[in-house]
Amino acid sequence: MRKSALILIALIAIVTTLFSFTKAEENTYKNLKVLPKNTTKQELDSVMKHFSMSLGVRCNFCHVRLENEKKDWDFASDKNEHKDVARDMMRMAVKINKKYFKDENKDANGKQVANAITCFTCHNGKEEPGRIPPAPPRPDQPRPEQPKPTGK
Ligand code: HEC
Ligand code: HEC
Repeated sequence: MRKSALILIALIAIVTTLFSFTKAEENTYKNLKVLPKNTTKQELDSVMKHFSMSLGVRCNFCHVRLENEKKDWDFASDKNEHKDVARDMMRMAVKINKKYFKDENKDANGKQVANAITCFTCHNGKEEPGRIPPAPPRPDQPRPEQPKPTGK
């Protein structure tokens, strides 16, 4: 398989169920540095949705709009610094999967399946992953009363 296709697969959790890689349509993207240049619109949309959902953000967390009247999106621009952070995170996720989760990323027949490590693994819907787990309940303190089921 092409190296670029491998990188793309490494970045999308559910890629194998969504795409066949048979038709590499021309796209209009101008500034792809990590994803393959021939990434289709369907593939790119899926990756961007994965980023947004994983961090619990919208497109404007990483992208800027033009100064024109309609405030059109300028998705190719690198003016938003979060975009380059995201690129580094993409490279990191590819490395972690390759080095530590090679087997977990394949099914019994050696076919690539969802990656063990995705943006969601660490981010869990947040811009910045947590560092410290919530404190465990202390045995010497009574647990707060649990809400009772209302039967509704
Ligand atoms: C967490 C950051 C992040 C979020 C959120 C995000 N993007 Fe992106 N986007 C990127 C990065 C990084 C690239 C460049 C990828 C590369 O260099 O291979 C990119 C590239 C693109 C491109 C290609 C632009 C070009 O011409 O090169 C489009 C289009 C795009 N994003 C649309 C979207 C849309 C629509 C959303 C919201 C649904 C979105 N993005 C949300 C980080 C993000
Ligand atoms: C191994 C865990 C891990 C994975 C996987 C991961 N991240 Fe992160 N990410 C972090 C941590 C930790 C931080 C916070 C760094 C800090 O505190 O400065 C962070 C920060 C970020 C930020 C900056 C947020 C801010 O508030 O400035 C962006 C953007 C981001 N990650 C995007 C991504 C994207 C996109 C992916 C998937 C390609 C991804 N991350 C995968 C751990 C991860």
